[in-house]
Formats: sequence, C-alpha cells, structure tokens
Amino acid sequence: MKSRWTVQRWALWVGVGALLLLLFPGRAWAQGGTQSGSLNATDINGLFGIVLLLAILVFFLVEGLLVFAIIRYRRRSNDEMPEQVHGNNRLEMGWTLGSAVLVLVLFFFTLGFYQQPRGLPANSEPLSVQVTGHTWYWEFFYPDSGVRLVSTTDTFRVPAGRPVVLEITSADVQHSFWIPELAGKVDAIPGRVQRMWFQVDEPRTYVGQCAEYCGREHYNMLIDLEVLAEPEFAAWYGEEAAAVAAAAEVDLQAEAAALTGDPAAGAVLYQDIGCVACHALADVQVVGPSFLGLGARAAERREGYTADEYLRESILHPCDFVVSGFTCVMPQTYGDQLSPQDLADLVAFLNQQ
Ligand code: CUA
Repeated sequence: MKSRWTVQRWALWVGVGALLLLLFPGRAWAQGGTQSGSLNATDINGLFGIVLLLAILVFFLVEGLLVFAIIRYRRRSNDEMPEQVHGNNRLEMGWTLGSAVLVLVLFFFTLGFYQQPRGLPANSEPLSVQVTGHTWYWEFFYPDSGVRLVSTTDTFRVPAGRPVVLEITSADVQHSFWIPELAGKVDAIPGRVQRMWFQVDEPRTYVGQCAEYCGREHYNMLIDLEVLAEPEFAAWYGEEAAAVAAAAEVDLQAEAAALTGDPAAGAVLYQDIGCVACHALADVQVVGPSFLGLGARAAERREGYTADEYLRESILHPCDFVVSGFTCVMPQTYGDQLSPQDLADLVAFLNQQ
C-alpha cells in the first residue's frame, strides 16, 4: 500500500511539471495560431473556431458526466457494492448518433469552406517564390530576379498588400511549411511542387516552422517572414537582384576572357543577333558607328581598358561609353543572351575589323 502511494505521488509531480512546461512554449506565442494575417487565413481560423467550440462543449459534457459519476456512485463503505449495470441500448444508440451528428456538422462546415472560391484575387500580379525544404533549413528562390536565400538566418521577405504564391517542394525528406497566421500547412514533398498563396496587409514579421518531423534538427527549422511596405520591398528586392546580376556578369566576362574566340563564329553572330542592322563593316554610318578599323581603335578608346575589355564592356553596357556624335539606342540585354563563348567569338571578330 505504501509503495503504491509513492508511485502515485511521482506520477502527480511529473504531470504537474509537464503542465508547467506548457507555460514556456518558446516561439509558439509569437506564432499566434488564432490570429489571421492573411486573406485566406481568416477562413481557416473561422473553421478552427467552430471545431474548437464543439470540442469545448464535448469536453465539458464528458468531464461533467465523469465527475458526476465519480461523486454520485463512489463507494461509501468497504463492504458496499455499487449497483452493477450491463448494457443500455438507449444510451449506446444515443452516443453513437450524437457523435455521428457532430461529425456530420463538421463535415458540412468543412465542405462549405472548400467550396468557397479559393483562387488568387482577380487581376492581381502575384509575386512568386519557390520554397525548398532541406534538412534542416529552408531555401527561398525568387525566379523573376534570380535572388536566392539559403539558410535559416536569412529572413524571407515579401511585399504587403500583394498576393504571394509559394511553390513548395523538398530536396530530401518530407517537411511541412507552416506560418500559422498566414495559411494552412503545406507539405514539402520531394519530387512534387505544391502551391499555396497568401496576401498580408500588415507589414511586420511573421514566424513559422517546419511542421513535419524530419530528423534531429526539425525543431530548429524555423521560418521568419518579414512583410515590408511595397517601396521598402522594392528597394530590397532591387538591391538583391542587382547584386545577382552583377555577380553573373562578372562570371560571364571572366569566363569569356579565359576562352579563345573564333572570329568566323563571331561573324555569324554579327549577322544573327542583329549587329549588322546598325553597324556596317565598311566605312558607312548606319545607326551606330562603323566597325571599320575597330580593332585598332578599341585599344585606345577607354583608359585602363585593353581592346578585349573595352569590346566586352561595350557589348554588355553599350550606353556607358558612347562614341561622340551618337545616341545610345543599342539593346542592353546582350548579357542575358550571350554565352561566354559567344562573347569571346564576337570580340575576336570585332578585333579583326
Ligand atoms: Cu523539416 Cu521538420
């Protein structure tokens, strides 16, 4: 008898300790599971509210009956035997039907929720972000700009007041993307892309985390979303995109410089990409300067630049250094079109003129 009491007392203290631990849920408060920061999260929270209300009613009903039975039918003396009951058809029908009705009510609320139009707001220009789960961090890629954020320390940013479409996948095991205030969970599954969208109007930071157990550091697979006012977002996005473009161009120029150009291939490109429309090879001015004698001029044109450097720079940034007497109308997109070998071939061709 004595040892059983000790076991019970241990169990009690462990239980109390576990309850106290629930008071310190770390980021859970900040995730504010019952607020809705996004258009579509409002629907989800509404449904959650209904389920919660029903669950509270059921809880009090069941616990109330339990407490009632404990007090009403407790053993009052050691030799007393409580009334023994076996089976009650009415009661069993009652709780079976009662539960079925509850489940049906939930079913119809959920059905209504799924039947609502759940597409993006009409006439919107959503920002698209590709999200990839890795063990154990998230990668965010903005396909329109080439901006890539990898690691948990990177804050992922989106503009306020504009729909954001996430294309979610995983590079390894199954993860789940969840920012409770914004929308439901979406699993990140290898080999599959799942879409979700949200639109947030209040600029501030929203936090979330991986919601599918994925290994040792699952707990640390956090998401920080910073929603910025449109101008601030545009400034950040522009800076990041420019840095990406600059890095890509340094690569392009460096790779082209390391290659040997083929003048014959350059002559074909001169026709194909349209240089011929504005630059004649003979001493004729069309729209831009003639290429006649360009090889000799290129080395002298710009201080600190070799002929090759000057030619590469002029193809990628034609408007930075314009020959006097001309206005710059040349496309500034050759950096996106040309491979390093193309650039080397063109430079070799132009040097021969
Ligand atoms: Cu990723 Cu849990």
